[in-house]
Amino acid sequence: MNPLQTPAQWPAEAIWQAVAPLLPGFTVEVLPSIDSTSSELMRRARDGRQEPTLLVAETQTAGRGRLGRDWHSEAIYRDTGVVPALTFSLGLPLAPREWSGLSLAVGVSVAESLQPRLPAAGSGQPRILLKWPNDLWLQDERKLGGILVETASLAGAAGDPRYVVVGIGLNVLPVLAKGLRTPPACLREVDGTLTAARALERIAAPLVQALLGFADAGFAPFQARFAQRDLLAGRNVTLSDGSQGTAHGVAEDGALLVHTARGMQAVNSAEISVRPVEN
Ligand code: BTN
Repeated sequence: MNPLQTPAQWPAEAIWQAVAPLLPGFTVEVLPSIDSTSSELMRRARDGRQEPTLLVAETQTAGRGRLGRDWHSEAIYRDTGVVPALTFSLGLPLAPREWSGLSLAVGVSVAESLQPRLPAAGSGQPRILLKWPNDLWLQDERKLGGILVETASLAGAAGDPRYVVVGIGLNVLPVLAKGLRTPPACLREVDGTLTAARALERIAAPLVQALLGFADAGFAPFQARFAQRDLLAGRNVTLSDGSQGTAHGVAEDGALLVHTARGMQAVNSAEISVRPVEN
C-alpha cells in the first residue's frame, strides 16, 4: 500500500503542545466516526461544555455545509482505514469586538498554512484561493474545501462573548464529482505528500492564533491577505437575488463589494450565495 494511504497517525500530542499554552484547558479528540464534528461541539456547548476543543473525525455520517447543505465524506475509501478528507471542528470561547469577517479570517489562515507561498497566476502551479465567504478553491474553479462557522451563547457571560465552533472540511484525496454542485479538487494536487493528519498539523496551531488575533483586532489585519487569494476579484458574479455585478474585493469588515447596476453594494448576508459567471 502507498505509505501516504495508510491509516492516519494523528498528531494530537504535537497539536496539544503547541496550542495548550495559548488556550488553557484545550483538548484534542480524534473519533473514528460521528455524525458531524460541528454538531457534536454545538451539542456540547448547549449542554454547558464549553472548553476549547479540537474534535477530529475520520468519518462523518451527517456532515453539514453552509446554507443547510450536506458535506459529504467520500464513501469509496470506506473500510480501508484511509482518511480521504480532513474533517474537524475547533470550539472555543471568543469575544471579538465584531464578528463580521471571521470565516474569511479562518480561510486566510487555512490557505496560508497549506500553501504559505502563493504561486504566481499563470505559473501553471495549483493556487489555493478563497471564494467569499468561506470556501477554498483551486484557481480552475474547483472546490478544495469549506468552512462552517457557528456560535452558541456562552454560559454566564456578559457582553458579546460566545462559544464559536469553526468546522473545516478539506478533500485530501480525489473525490467523485457526481452529485456535487462544484467540481472537487484535493490537497494532493497541491502537495503530493499531504495526508489528512499532516494537513491538520499544519493548520491547527496557526488557526488558533488567527482566531485569537481576530478577537483582538477583527478582520482588518486579514484584509490584504484575503485580497491576495480572492478568487472573485474582478469577476462577474451573480448574487442569490439574481442581480449581477463585478466583485471588487472585500471591505474592512469582510463584506463583499459588488458593483451592480444599482451602484456599489456591500454584501454581508450569510444567506447570500455568490457564484462567478463566465467572463
Ligand atoms: C461548506 O462548504 O459549506 C462548509 C463545509 C464544512 C464542512 C465541515 S467538515 C467538519 C465540520 N463538520 C461539519 O458537519 N461540517 C464542518
